[in-house]
Amino acid sequence: MSSSDSNPPKLNRIVVLISGGGSNLQALIDSTLSTPPALPNSHIAHVISNRSKAYGLTRCSLSSPPIPTSILNLKTYLSQPSSTPRTRETYDIELASLVLSTSPDLIILAGFMHILSPTFLALLHPQPDSPKIPIINLHPALPGAFDGANAIPRALDAFEKGEVKGTGVMVHRVVEEVDGGEPILVREVEIVKGEKLETLEERIHKVEHEIIVEGARRVLKEMGRI
Ligand code: GRF
Repeated sequence: MSSSDSNPPKLNRIVVLISGGGSNLQALIDSTLSTPPALPNSHIAHVISNRSKAYGLTRCSLSSPPIPTSILNLKTYLSQPSSTPRTRETYDIELASLVLSTSPDLIILAGFMHILSPTFLALLHPQPDSPKIPIINLHPALPGAFDGANAIPRALDAFEKGEVKGTGVMVHRVVEEVDGGEPILVREVEIVKGEKLETLEERIHKVEHEIIVEGARRVLKEMGRI
């Protein structure tokens, strides 16, 4: 047996941050386990949630093998007694340290409903010339169209007012500006006149589940990791 056979390639460690149902996380889990894997030579090494009740955590325990998880909730963190003052900024420092402790090769925000501060990003990307652990985010809108929360209902409302012709979904690099990073993948989604929000959301989520995997694959390929 050649030495390479006895040393299988190191799996890419994908660390996912969530806050909710985790349907995008599930798409990523499935993409590493499918035959052939849409995300080869990779695994979801750890999932971090800022909400203890996120169903995405249950998805991790149901996964085979189960995926390690951590919870760091801002309100709980701020309410815990501490010898030093606890602020949103120290929370982000704690979050950055937790993320780094999982040794990620790629960090994916999949429905993570917490705005990461410059402090967090500076800790993740300490030196301008050091190799940066890529951080990518999924956002259910076109670049610059509906940054921030409630992007889908805002797009539908704008469509009904004749302000936009459609909407979309993107995977982008995470930078200080919320949802402002360089897009990696953008997919337009048409809005059907008179359609209900639920129908549009359903179609958008379907596209999300596709492009979050494709976006991750592109970044890993760019890194030469697949
Ligand atoms: C997705 O629409 C995501 O873009 C938005 O929140 C939703 C998360 O869905 N930020 P899930 O938790 O992945 O099911």
